[in-house]
Amino acid sequence: MNYKKDFPIFENNEISYLDSGATSQRPKYVLDKIQEYYNNSNANPHRGAYSLSIESTEVYENARNRISKFINARYKEEIIFSKNASESLNLIAYSYGLDNVKKDDEIVISIMEHHSNLVPWQYVAKKTGGKLNYMYINDEYELSKEEIESKITDKTKIVGITHVSNVLGTINNVKEIIKYAHKKGAIVVVDASQSIPHMKIDVQDLDADFLVFSGHKMFAPLGIGILYGKKELLNKMNPFIMGGDMIEYVYEQDTTFAPLPNKFEAGTQNVGGVVGLSAAMDYIESIGYENIEKIEKKLVKYARKELSKLDFLDIYMTPNEKNHSGVISFNIKGVHPHDVASILDSVGVCVRSGNHCAQPLLRYMGLDSTCRASFSIYNDEEDVDKLVEGLKKVYNMFEKYIKKG
Ligand code: ALA
Repeated sequence: MNYKKDFPIFENNEISYLDSGATSQRPKYVLDKIQEYYNNSNANPHRGAYSLSIESTEVYENARNRISKFINARYKEEIIFSKNASESLNLIAYSYGLDNVKKDDEIVISIMEHHSNLVPWQYVAKKTGGKLNYMYINDEYELSKEEIESKITDKTKIVGITHVSNVLGTINNVKEIIKYAHKKGAIVVVDASQSIPHMKIDVQDLDADFLVFSGHKMFAPLGIGILYGKKELLNKMNPFIMGGDMIEYVYEQDTTFAPLPNKFEAGTQNVGGVVGLSAAMDYIESIGYENIEKIEKKLVKYARKELSKLDFLDIYMTPNEKNHSGVISFNIKGVHPHDVASILDSVGVCVRSGNHCAQPLLRYMGLDSTCRASFSIYNDEEDVDKLVEGLKKVYNMFEKYIKKG
């Protein structure tokens, strides 16, 4: 059983959608909730004394409360709305990184980071005179304990780590990394963009200092993201974006800032997006992460097995199934991934191709690009079969050129 029937896009498109790692589809439940907000409650929140604006404010703040419970934050003020995980990570780099990294301090990230959890740290290192060091993957596409413990040192101030790699699907043991980093006196920034659509996140259990994710990969609309930060850290940080509603008093030459969370939410906010994200969480809870994991694990197992039968394919995945989430990257030897993806598209299979915003990882693996299939609760074995058939078609088309070299 899968949940395809909940997603209107599949009534209008006969496709095998295998690009949920880039953006998921939205269920009718979420689309209806957004529509309901715009039909009944839309006004600028935090700015009007009239009932509709108050209602919009309530909708916005209730959603914050709901989202904080979803990831088990201690306080609702620890939830900051952003446009996406990238903006959340930039906020941390600018507002925490620039003020807390000093010359020769270390920032440690993994080689499997998305550019969004890498480029901002390069910027911080360059501006502060800090060093940016990498934890590299082993032959099994995982970070070993030895690698983690040799790279995080007493000089490390910040560790940036993705919970699940958007290229490899490797699940990193972030709880252990956080524990070790804390022993060394570093704070940890977790990118949960590729994990929260698939597994339960509990920020207190992880003891994450900061954790970010985007709504659009977890059945919510584009343009809404979350920054979770421990209150004591957020309170000490300077604002990132300045403007309306993040202030207390503004004088000609000086400004005092609003308390959390408003300090980090300048300008009119994306209330429709917040409503959609909150509804997406309702939807996920109505299915239950246990069920989601059961469906996806079975599907990934099947995909691993079927793709492994294709001897013309290079597959980049950990051999340890339990450490593998819903993403599989591969190449047909000798065929450019963009050609593979275009031909797959012609048979109704949507996969991503390119460097997946992770150029240092691909370079480290000796690659320029890959094709990537990523799975969600609306996929089934038929989608995998269509992918396999499509790949055979591509190989047959290119076989004679590949063999000639
Ligand atoms: N970060 C998204 C991906 O991995 C866009 O595809």
